[in-house]
Amino acid sequence: MTNEAIPNLTAFDEAALDHAFAALEQQAAADAATLDSPEAIEAFRLRWLGRKQGRLNEVSARWLKAAPPEAKKALGQRFNAFKAIVEGLLEQAAGSGPSDAALAAEAIDITLPGTRRLTGAEHPITRTMNEIVQVFAALGYSVGVGPEVESDYYNFESMNFPPGHPARDTQDTLVVAGQERRPQRDRLLLRTHTSPVQMRTMEQQPPPVRIVIPGKVHRNDAADATHSPIFHQVEGLCVDTNITFSDLKGTLDHAMKALFGSSVKTRFFPSFFPFTEPSADVQISCIFCGGKGCRKCKQSGWIELLGCGMVDPAVFAFAQEKQPAYDPKRISGFAFGMGVERIAMMKYGVSEIGQFFAGDMRFLGQFV
Ligand code: PHE
Repeated sequence: MTNEAIPNLTAFDEAALDHAFAALEQQAAADAATLDSPEAIEAFRLRWLGRKQGRLNEVSARWLKAAPPEAKKALGQRFNAFKAIVEGLLEQAAGSGPSDAALAAEAIDITLPGTRRLTGAEHPITRTMNEIVQVFAALGYSVGVGPEVESDYYNFESMNFPPGHPARDTQDTLVVAGQERRPQRDRLLLRTHTSPVQMRTMEQQPPPVRIVIPGKVHRNDAADATHSPIFHQVEGLCVDTNITFSDLKGTLDHAMKALFGSSVKTRFFPSFFPFTEPSADVQISCIFCGGKGCRKCKQSGWIELLGCGMVDPAVFAFAQEKQPAYDPKRISGFAFGMGVERIAMMKYGVSEIGQFFAGDMRFLGQFV
């Protein structure tokens, strides 16, 4: 900004006038070069062209008035030319926006590498869960969810684990503290499986039902290479007239082929779950050795993957409290539950379950 006072002119010959106006032009140009905001431009206008305090006003007052009559014409011409220059500078500043200096500071250098934005991707567990769900959606199953904080009634009692029954010990449970004064059936816990959503679904709709339920579950298990206190399951429930164990076998055999490839075989082993009768564990032929026997399948050629069975009539009896149509004499059904991590570990060759939850981008970045 220019604050220098306008000097008095002592000589009025051509050379003196040229010199005096050249100095003013230089000042005005330097001043105009710093204009980088509307406020600065307005200040420039007032400083140079202001009616009372403006520098041009002062020039006119000091020089024009003091000039001898024969110098007035030459001085007037130069004054008008200079005024046009200042107005030009002002117009340029107002029209061109920020000054060259300000622009340079903000300029985009298109030769620099850009800011790299990481592409988001599905977590491998989410992806596997969606893949499983998709296989059943293609068979006409709908998709449901239920709460992760569940009541004792839905997680255990209605699934035919009576209070105090030793079957409860097979699912070491994380319970919500401070619930001792509530009736046992209302006490809250972190669901140990997605099976309680079977009951919630049946209470909401009469048969027929075909539904898959993906979700997070918790167990008070010590973490190791294959156990994590938090993991995921996909539950399945099918209830209709004349549903048989062959329907269960055919459905799961198809699902395993869809997930692991058409050459995969399945076999069913007797097992026990309180909410299915009969119950079975499903094994698939080892996807690593094709069934010949290797380290992954402990030389057996088979890998155990999920639990299933025909819905126990005792479970239908609980459902009938809200939906009488679940009459075990008229309908039947099957259910299954599979661990998502186990399937993801097989599909992607992951040997530590904890990797899924560690949030290490070096691990997760492999699934983009
Ligand atoms: N809920 C059982 C578990 O978590 C799995 C299962 C579901 C078994 C449905 C049979 C039927 O171990």
